[in-house]
Amino acid sequence: MFTVNINGQDQQVDATPEMPLLWVLRDLVGLTGTKFGCGIAQCGACTVHLDGRPARSCVTPIAAVGQRKVTTIEAIGDTPAGRKVQQAWLDLDVVQCGYCQSGQIMSAAALLAAHPAPTDADIDSAMAGNICRCGTYVRIRAAIKHAAQGA
Ligand code: FES
Ligand code: FES
Repeated sequence: MFTVNINGQDQQVDATPEMPLLWVLRDLVGLTGTKFGCGIAQCGACTVHLDGRPARSCVTPIAAVGQRKVTTIEAIGDTPAGRKVQQAWLDLDVVQCGYCQSGQIMSAAALLAAHPAPTDADIDSAMAGNICRCGTYVRIRAAIKHAAQGA
């Protein structure tokens, strides 16, 4: 049994130590906004925040989370950066199929929280690990800049 702080609430989860955080979120806690893509830290679909930093939940064993606070797509809109990013995503109609977008938004929100006025290089570096099969990269970049200007 582990106690994990998820979106501001302590949750007791009956998981084995090696169970990935992604499965804890989706199967034990019922938060299905975080997606499974590759399972091997290559696509970014499963990105959540641990103490505000992006992390691949598919390769993060629950035992490794410790006291760090987990934030998922379901609560990122409660943060200033997350709110701006979500509004920018709507304003610029970023989403195509949507599957990758939880992870994209989580990475973008972490970027903006750390760098309120990111350069192109900052964006490239922060978003490089988030793959989009629909090819929404141009709109994602524009939306991050839009969010940085206050959305
Ligand atoms: S599902 Fe975790 S990085 Fe692809
Ligand atoms: S919007 Fe379809 S995979 Fe990114």
